[in-house]
Amino acid sequence: MQIQPFELERWQSVWENKVELNISESGVRPLTTSELVPDAATLQKIIDVPQYYPQTNGSEELRSRIAELYPGATAENVLVTCGGSEANFISTWSLIEPGDEIVFMMPNYMQVAGLARSFGATVKPLWLREELQWGINIGELSRLIGPKTKLVAICNPSNPTGSVLRKDEREAIVAAAEKVGAWVLADEVYRGAEFDGAMTSSFWGGYDRILCTAGLSKAYSLPGLRTGWVVGSPKMVEKLWGYHDYTSIGPSMLTDLLASVALEPRRRAWILNRTREILLRNYPALRAWLESHADSFSHVPPKAGAIAWAGLSGGRNSAQMAEELREKKGVLLVAGEQLGMESFVRFGFGGDPGHLQKALGRIDEWLQENRVRSHTR
Ligand SMILES: Cc1ncc(COP(=O)(O)O)c(C=O)c1O
Repeated sequence: MQIQPFELERWQSVWENKVELNISESGVRPLTTSELVPDAATLQKIIDVPQYYPQTNGSEELRSRIAELYPGATAENVLVTCGGSEANFISTWSLIEPGDEIVFMMPNYMQVAGLARSFGATVKPLWLREELQWGINIGELSRLIGPKTKLVAICNPSNPTGSVLRKDEREAIVAAAEKVGAWVLADEVYRGAEFDGAMTSSFWGGYDRILCTAGLSKAYSLPGLRTGWVVGSPKMVEKLWGYHDYTSIGPSMLTDLLASVALEPRRRAWILNRTREILLRNYPALRAWLESHADSFSHVPPKAGAIAWAGLSGGRNSAQMAEELREKKGVLLVAGEQLGMESFVRFGFGGDPGHLQKALGRIDEWLQENRVRSHTR
């Protein structure tokens, strides 16, 4: 099978550990294991655990803790996966047949669109609109979602815009999908990383063809654990478990235990509070920088996530800008093209603030050099 290259992941996989200033990340500074597990007794328990195969759909304890994040869900509604990416993968793989149509929110993390095309589906974009603060135009749903639609794939909170859908937008998407019996796949991996601390409402509930995916990589600052999950009806979760047998079989013993520690309610609150503190500490400097460069960038402030999405004035080519910044200035950011929208770039601000300042200084140099270049042409 020919697959569509996953440009964003290739870009990050190849360069993130080679550049001097990586501001391509969408999460916040990761926790260490000792920060996550500060008490010696729990740490010892984790070290002493025999490395058997784990419960392959996730331990009962971990699945119950995940279920607490979805009103009315129980452990039966949850399948633990290797990252949110595996959750998205098996969900798409299990649903898409050649000739299907999917409606896919754009701009977006392009995994589900790339997979669906590779599996032979047609992808119709559901655009987030800058003039609607990166919300959707509800009126477009009836034109896009029809009898041929197999799946409607949403990312909420949105990567890359950081916007959060309103209740009426969520309800309109579910109603349009339900009308034609389409599935809704809601990637909610940034849920919990809201600036105002109000947890984004999940798409979960109300319609039995909803799958919600998420994990510990973003709001929980634990990407290295590779813990994700999918929440759905018990019947669909059972089916997806069968697909999971063909991918990673199960989580690792250590990640299952560490993920249960992270989602223990008090620990979970502590982690999400830390994430929010990082967002509130780091974003103002980036926002001020973008506002002081309004001649070069447009920007709608994010509501969630350590990512800022900025439009390039004059329709500048984002891939060329990202490539030149990497090569000449040692700065890695993400070209909008890799998130499905040209002439935008994504800044990650969840890392070290000094590092971000330095990267912005290099971008200033690049902008200055480009201005000189375009004047001397
Ligand atoms: C929207 C979205 N979904 C899924 C993933 C993959 O997450 P994970 O690290 O949990 O596999 C990412 C990573 O950037 C993402 O932005």
